[in-house]
Amino acid sequence: MNEIPFLKPSFPSRDELSTSYQDLLECGIFSNDGPASTEFIEGICNFVQTTPEHVSLVASATSGIELALQALDISASRAHVLVASFTFPAGPLALRRQGLRPLFIDIDSETWQPDIHEARRVIESRKFKITAILLTNTFGTANDEIEEWEQLAGEYALKLVVDSAAGFGSQSPSGERIGNNGDCEIFSFHATKTLAIGEGGAVISKHAEVINRIDSLKNFGFDGHRMTTLMGTNAKLSELSCKIGVLQLEKLIPQIEVRRLIFERYRNHLAPLGCKFQKNAGLSALPFVSAVVPKQQHRRHAVEALKVRGITSREYYNPPVHQHPFFASEVNSGLPVSNDVASRIISLPTYLDLQPQQIDFICGVLQQVVIT
Ligand SMILES: Cc1ncc(COP(=O)(O)O)c(C=O)c1O
Repeated sequence: MNEIPFLKPSFPSRDELSTSYQDLLECGIFSNDGPASTEFIEGICNFVQTTPEHVSLVASATSGIELALQALDISASRAHVLVASFTFPAGPLALRRQGLRPLFIDIDSETWQPDIHEARRVIESRKFKITAILLTNTFGTANDEIEEWEQLAGEYALKLVVDSAAGFGSQSPSGERIGNNGDCEIFSFHATKTLAIGEGGAVISKHAEVINRIDSLKNFGFDGHRMTTLMGTNAKLSELSCKIGVLQLEKLIPQIEVRRLIFERYRNHLAPLGCKFQKNAGLSALPFVSAVVPKQQHRRHAVEALKVRGITSREYYNPPVHQHPFFASEVNSGLPVSNDVASRIISLPTYLDLQPQQIDFICGVLQQVVIT
């Protein structure tokens, strides 16, 4: 059997890109929100049902989260922000870089999403000065308690920033595409994401004035006269990246369908072995498939058994962020569910031309590990 990588980004071919590149050369605009950016934003708006004044393209989801915090005026207050530890470090890092303090909460054992009951308990304990919630959509999957989170944030006048980095194309159980939640919702278009352009991201906000501020912040804090009026930076997305985004958007729906078939095949094999899958994962954009194996030692053996057969797997998000040295001092509680899920999770190869027999082979390896 040939090697099976974990991911294989799918990008437009040279021929597919050549017309777009020629357009760019003729137009002569390569950055600063030119026509390609307008086109990409229009595509995003059609996809998530919003309008251009509610979208800002940024250099990465990480910079998008930082700029959203800054534009919502919650940075530099040294206040705490609730965030799940079972996530990628980007969000907690963005908090720290904006002068905020992550207050880690646990996840729910079935959805692997931040635990709203713990969030409420921490807020109501009044032990911390909390200014916002950074709600991470685990693996980009829609949070089916989003209305409750909006309500909790509203009740305590907290800002709600939704990190949906891996979720462009994910749907809620009612079929709606995610993107318009919280005060800001942020997506990543990193090469490993389902909508991949290399590096890039988008912030969507129901508050057009917040998007205006982000547009200024990402461009050196300039006002309309190119005078710096805010503590800005450079976090713009290039026009070539936007052109790639336009082409990628055209293929996104059928590609998500393929990913969902891959997910179903994994689940059909592995669920009978006692492996657990994230609730609503089958409705998500599925940059990769993750399963929780019954016992911790199964994961270790599975990773090794796959590796010797040339198959690469990952352990997202292991360790959870509170176990990373930089964040080790910020733990609020034991976070038992995060620790348990992280100790048993395995993320499996997922890419468009992964063949059914390759999935069967991978699952056969896992089966041997789990039943012996
Ligand atoms: C939950 C989460 N947030 C943020 C990011 C960072 O995205 P980017 O690489 O676009 O900065 C990632 C990246 O995988 C992520 O998984």
